[in-house]
Order: sequence, then C-alpha cells, then structure tokens
Amino acid sequence: MENFVHDIPTKLYFGKGMISHLEESLKSFGKRVLLTYGGGSIKRVGLYDEVLEILTKAGFEVFECAGIEPNPRVESVARGADICKKEKIDVILSVGGGSVLDCSKAIAVGAYFNGDDYWQMVLASNGSQKALPLVAIMTMAATGSEFDSGGVISNMAIHKKIGRTFTFPAVSICDPCYTFTLPAKQSAAGGADMMSHIMEGYFSRTMNADLSEAIEEGILKSVIHNLPIVLQDPTNYEARANLFWNSSIACSGIPEYGKVSSGWPCHAMEHELSAFYDITHGVGLAILTPRWLSYILEKDSSITPRLVKFAKNVWGLENKDETELAKAGIQALYDFFVSVGIPMHLSELGIDETHFEEMAKSCTHPWFDSFVGLSEEDVVCIFKMCL
Ligand code: NZQ
Ligand code: ZN
Repeated sequence: MENFVHDIPTKLYFGKGMISHLEESLKSFGKRVLLTYGGGSIKRVGLYDEVLEILTKAGFEVFECAGIEPNPRVESVARGADICKKEKIDVILSVGGGSVLDCSKAIAVGAYFNGDDYWQMVLASNGSQKALPLVAIMTMAATGSEFDSGGVISNMAIHKKIGRTFTFPAVSICDPCYTFTLPAKQSAAGGADMMSHIMEGYFSRTMNADLSEAIEEGILKSVIHNLPIVLQDPTNYEARANLFWNSSIACSGIPEYGKVSSGWPCHAMEHELSAFYDITHGVGLAILTPRWLSYILEKDSSITPRLVKFAKNVWGLENKDETELAKAGIQALYDFFVSVGIPMHLSELGIDETHFEEMAKSCTHPWFDSFVGLSEEDVVCIFKMCL
C-alpha cells in the first residue's frame, strides 16, 4: 500500500430533514450571506422558498448570485466574487448541484483575490488560498463536490475547462429528497460520474489495498443496483439515499487511499469535450470509459488481471478465459450505460473529429498515464472510437 493523508474538514449532515441544521451552520460565520444557485431548479422544486424563509426568520441579510451554469463559467466566478467584495459577505450558501458548488468554491477564493483577472486566480488556486466560509445544500448526486475541495471552471472563450482545488465546504447538507426531481438524464449522468470517480482509481497497478478495493467495488455495485431503480421510481428514498452517499465518498479520495493513481485520464479527456462542446460531464465519461478500457487492454495486456477482477467482482462474470473475461467486463459496463439511457456515441451529441488533435494535445500530461501510458496519438484514437 502507498502512503496517504486523510484530511476532510467538512461536516456532513446527511438525510431527510437535515436542512434543520442550516441556521446553526451559518450563524457562526456572520450575518451577510451570498446565496448562490443555478438556472432555477431550486425555485421550481420549492427549495428556494424554504431556504429564504429560514434565512429571513433567523435575521440573515441575503444577497444573491443566480444563473450559475452547468459547466460553470469564469464569468460567474467573477460576478460572485465582485458581490462578495462589494457587499462584505461573511459566508456563501450554495444551493444546487456540483456546478453551483464548484463555482461557489471559486467565488469563496475570489472574494480575497486582489485583482480582476479571475481566470488567473482559477489557474493559480491550489487549496492554500484564503477563502470565505462556504455552506452547501446539495441537490444532485454526482460530483461529490459536497465532500471535497475541488472545483471545475470553464473559460469557453479559449476552450478550457480546468479542475483546481479551492476550499472545502465547512458544512454540506445532503437530503436525498432534494434529488427526487432530477430528470432521468441527470440521474443517469450523475451515476456515470460517480462510477467514473471510482473507476479512475480502481484501474490502478496497486492490487493490495484491500479496503480501498472493497469500497470501490461496493460503490460500483451499489450504483449499478440503485440507478435503474431511481429511473423507474424517482422518489424511491432508499435508492436515492444510496446513490447520494456513494457520490459523496466516490470523489472524496478515500476509495483511492493506498493506491497509485491512474492520473484520471477519462476526466482529462472529458474536460476537453466539455470545453469545446459544453456537454454533460457524466455523459462524456460514460462514452469515454469503455473505449479507453478497450484501447489500453489492446495496448498493454499486462492489465488483464485488473480487468478480470473488475469483471468478476463488479459484474459477477465467470467461466471464461482471462482475455475474454476482461473484455466481457468492459462490454457489461457499456451495456449498463446503454440500459440507463445514456447516448453512447459522440456523434449523437453533434461532435465530430474536427478538434480531436487540439483536444488530445491539451489533455496529455505526464501524470495522465500512470496506469497505461497514452500519447497524443492514443488519445485521438480513443476519441475516434467514441464517434
Ligand atoms: O441549474 P439548475 O436550474 O439548478 O439545474 C441543474 C442543471 O441544469 C439541474 N439540477 C440540479 N439539481 C436538480 C436539478 N434539476 C432538478 N432537480 C434537482 N434536484 O441539473 C443540471 C446539472 O447540474 P450540475 O450542477 O451541472 O450537475 P453536476 O452536479 O453533475 O455538476 C457537474 C459539474 O461538476 C464538475 C463537472 O465537470 C461539471 O462542471 N465536477 C466537479 C467535481 C468536483 N467538484 O469534485 C468532480 C467531477 O469530476 C466533475 O468534474
Ligand atoms: Zn467527474
């Protein structure tokens, strides 16, 4: 096992009715609250009114930064940070999915940024910068942003989507009931995202980190079990709750403890797709992951035992020779994504090969290939397999 550090300072309130802890979560930070949210889902589901009522009754002074986009833009970071500076905000309250929370984390750092080139601030952020305190009410099970310090910000003018560490939420409130209203497409994309967070770490050369492996396989099996249930029955509390807790742990780093990281190649490739075509993150990951696995298995058969373990322990497959079993596990993953309604070809999203070389150049870094090395040419081949 490799060395690791566990350091997650976020207090997590998980479960039905946990919004009852909102007032106490905010009040130690001050009275002036910046409420951040997205394109209006929180208003449609009644959560906005519920939050405002709690804040008003408790005497908080509320300012708003609304309209944060999926794949949040640096312009929204700038807008929020400017409000924080002008209105002397004490604490940020993020209500929404991963995009709102990621943007809010960058806003929290931006509030102390001396300047107005917020893209430079995003690029320079590494988790050590001073930040405003942040409380999150999460409405989507996907990114795990509620339990990590990461944020992914896009600058569409230059086709860049960049992940950095900003700040942990001080408190995250995760009530699975808030995810009942998620459209099927977002539920499926969220499931694919959390599976990818696991698979990026699972496909590692380290085979002896027993607990981490068990957590990884457990989360994958739980998503495979519960995602079809919520697609049939969106208000199924147990299935929504399991998905939510899976998502919080999946991106927390915990499942990778003790393992050599793969460098998260599918995320690097997906961020290129989103930076050029503004696609839904989880959909891009679902399309890429089986193709990436097929490609690297062909390129380096020494990874066969790892893929055999995936086929046996995650998909319950057996009775085949090792190479066949490895391929059958990849096929099972592909078939699962099809079964939950994810479009599995880039062409279905209007993407062709125009920018593949530019995208491959941009995402190929030394850290990218600790599982199986990938050159720019390899990445272009993987993108083409996804068409
Ligand atoms: O904008 P609103 O109106 O709120 O609607 C959102 C949005 O359109 C809607 N939605 C969210 N909760 C809802 C709901 N609709 C109905 N009912 C609800 N309860 O869903 C749409 C997608 O929301 P978004 O926040 O974009 O989704 P997600 O949570 O998947 O976040 C995706 C972003 O997170 C980044 C991705 O790259 C992408 O930019 N990631 C962040 C990570 C992190 N912080 O650690 C790691 C991930 O790998 C990922 O890269
Ligand atoms: Zn992700």
